[in-house]
Amino acid sequence: MPGEHLVVEGLREHLVAYFEQHHRLVEAGALQLLLTQHQPLIVSREVVEQGDASPFVTVEMVERALALRTPPGPTVRATPAELRPSAGPGDVRLELPFELIREGFGGPPVGADALAAYSTLFQSRYRALARLLRGRPELSNLRPIASVRAGDGPTSVIGLVREVRTTAKRHHLVLTLDDDSGSLEVLVPQESPAAPASFLPDEVVGVRLQLAREPGRLARVVAVERPDVPVSRAVGRAGRRRRAVFLSDLHIGSRSFLSDSWGHLVDFLRGQGPQAELAAEIDHVVVAGDLVDGIGVYPQQERDLAIADVVEQYAELGRRLAELPERLSIVVVPGNHDAVCPAEPQPALPAALRAALPANVHSLANPSTFAIHGVVVEAYHGRSFDDLIPAIPGASYARPTDVMKRMLQMRHLAPIYGDRTPLAPLARDGLVVDPAPDILVTGHVHTYGADRYRGVLLLNASTWQAETEYQRMRNISPVPARAAVVDLSTLDLVTLDFSPGEPVRVGAAG
Ligand SMILES: [Fe+2]
Repeated sequence: MPGEHLVVEGLREHLVAYFEQHHRLVEAGALQLLLTQHQPLIVSREVVEQGDASPFVTVEMVERALALRTPPGPTVRATPAELRPSAGPGDVRLELPFELIREGFGGPPVGADALAAYSTLFQSRYRALARLLRGRPELSNLRPIASVRAGDGPTSVIGLVREVRTTAKRHHLVLTLDDDSGSLEVLVPQESPAAPASFLPDEVVGVRLQLAREPGRLARVVAVERPDVPVSRAVGRAGRRRRAVFLSDLHIGSRSFLSDSWGHLVDFLRGQGPQAELAAEIDHVVVAGDLVDGIGVYPQQERDLAIADVVEQYAELGRRLAELPERLSIVVVPGNHDAVCPAEPQPALPAALRAALPANVHSLANPSTFAIHGVVVEAYHGRSFDDLIPAIPGASYARPTDVMKRMLQMRHLAPIYGDRTPLAPLARDGLVVDPAPDILVTGHVHTYGADRYRGVLLLNASTWQAETEYQRMRNISPVPARAAVVDLSTLDLVTLDFSPGEPVRVGAAG
C-alpha cells in the first residue's frame, strides 16, 4: 500500500519513546518486528512486562512475547485499524483514528484462594511500578529490602507502602515498606525534606535512606521518588486538527437527567448551533462512566429513578447515543452506577446490554487506554476519588484535577485497598498507568475541572445529571452540562456549557 512506510515512521517514534521510559534501548531488528504487528504498543508493553533485567530489547524478547500472547477477550471491540491520510500542510504522515492500547480488566482471577489472588495482584503492581523507578540516579545503591543492614552507607529501596502511621510524641511518620524480599519500617522525620510529601497506603515509592548505626533503630528517609510522568517525553499529537469531546456521568434513567441540556449538546454535535465550525472538526466522543443511573446503587435510589428497569435504562442510553451523528466514534467505559461488577478494574458492558447501543459505540473496560489520532487517552471513571480525597491533605471534591496529578505521580489510579473502592484480585494490576497518557479523563465527582501536569491534559468531565437529594445530603454540588472539546493536534481545550440557552464557551485553556 503506498505510504505504508510513513505510518511506520510515526509508530517508530512512539515505540522508541515507550522503551526509553522503561530505561530500555530497542534494537533495530526488534523494532522492525514490532512494527509489523497489528498492535505494536500492546506487544511492547508485554515485552517490558517479561521483566528481563537487560537494558536492551532484542528480537528474541519480542518473539517470546508474541509466543505468549493470548487472543483478546470477547469484550475487545477495537475499530479496524483503518488508515486515513492526514492533510496538514507539509505533513505526509498517516495516522490511526483509533487504537486500543489496553483494557484494565484482564479476565477473571486465577485460582480460588482470595488471599493468594490479592498477593498476585500486589506483586504485579509492585513489579510494574518498580520498573519505572529502577535505574534512577536519585535512588543510588538500590537494594532488596532483605539485604539492608544497620551501619551500611547510603542505601535506596523501592517498596509498596503497607502502612503509614504517625509517632505519638513527635509526629514523625513511620512507613512500613514491602518488596519481594521482605519488609522494613522507615522513619520520615518532620524536619526531613521528604516530610511534606504525604504517603498513601498501597502506593509504590522509592526512598533514599540514611541507615542507623545501631541495630534496632529505624532508617531515616532522606528523599522520595515516585514513578511519575517523565518531565520530557515524546507526546502524541494528531497530524491535523481533529477534535474529541469528553463527557461523563450521563445517568440515563435518573429523574435528574438533564434532557434539555443533552438536547443542546446533540444540536451542537449535529452542527445546528452557533459553534458549527467547531462541531465539524469533532470525530470522537469519550464518556468516562456512569452511562446510566443503575438500580440499588444507594439507599432509596428508586425515588430518584424515571426508568426503574436497568435493561430499559440501557435501551434509553442507546436511543440517546443514536441522536448523535453516526460519523462520530463513541468510546464508553462503565462507572460504579453501571450494570457490571463494581470491583475495579471493571469489565466492559456485557454483550446483552451492548446490543442496545448503536454500532458506532465502542464499549471498553474501566479503565482503558487508547490512542485517538495518535493521542494517548487514559479513561477512568474515578471511584477512587472517594478514597483519595480524604487521604490526601488539602484535597477536595471541588478540585479533582489535584488528585489526578497525584494519580499520575503514583502512576496508579486507585492504590488504596480495603476502603470504598473495591479492587478485583486480577493477575495483572490493570489500574497501573502505563504508558503515560497525553490525556487523563475521569468523572464520578460530577464537577468540571481541567488542568495540565507535565504535558498531560487532565479532565474531570462534568455530568448530565442535576443535583440529587442524595448528593445534597453529602454536600456535593455538581457542575453539570459541560463538554470538554479538545483539539488533538495541539491539546488545546475549549469548554462548552450546555445549560439551558445557547451553548456558551466558558474559557479556553491553551
Ligand atoms: Fe456519577
